[in-house]
Amino acid sequence: MGSDSTREQVRQRYAAAALKVTEATPESTSCCGPAAPDEIDQRFGAGLYGDDVDGLPAEAVAASLGCGNPLMVADLAPSEWVLDLGSGGGIDVLLSARRVGPDGKAYGLDITDEMLALARANAATAGATNVQFLKGEIEAIPLPDESVDVVISNCVINLSTDKPAVLAEMFRVLTPGGRIGSAMWSPKTI
Ligand SMILES: C[S@@+](CC[C@H](N)C(=O)[O-])C[C@H]1O[C@@H](n2cnc3c(N)ncnc32)[C@H](O)[C@@H]1O
Repeated sequence: MGSDSTREQVRQRYAAAALKVTEATPESTSCCGPAAPDEIDQRFGAGLYGDDVDGLPAEAVAASLGCGNPLMVADLAPSEWVLDLGSGGGIDVLLSARRVGPDGKAYGLDITDEMLALARANAATAGATNVQFLKGEIEAIPLPDESVDVVISNCVINLSTDKPAVLAEMFRVLTPGGRIGSAMWSPKTI
């Protein structure tokens, strides 16, 4: 199977996941309010964030599909610029935006239009003004050289069909001395 075909399968899978959140009704799922604690799978997605997600839009939490909490290893500081590779419904971008504050910036990058629409709606609901969601591939990041202090990612690099290209792009967009905070797989899930 070619890499374009694999990437299209990935895109379709996450488009369906985004629509599941945006098209849900209160009767059909728990999307329109936080899931009860005993409904959250503690091994995946929102279950890995604990209290960190308090105050985020319910749809951002419901769309969480990662396998860790990259902010636990990113150690973000006020005024830093952050890029989240494969930002999905925006949970890690919104959490980053809180940490870097009004003088910082949090970018999200994703290939899936449906996820970008969900993330932008979640940012508007959260009132986050220091965030921007970009359409594109993590193998060809649409940002200039040395433009961010930190790159984070939550179980997305493993989906790439060209991981060396992703690593090269991360290196290119990071400022000298920049940092990477990536969840590849949570020890809790092994
Ligand atoms: C496992 S989800 C993670 C979403 C989010 N980071 C989270 O924690 O909920 C993967 C996301 O990465 C995006 N994605 C997958 N492959 C990609 C690629 N090659 N370039 C850009 N985005 C990609 C998908 O569209 C999807 O939104």
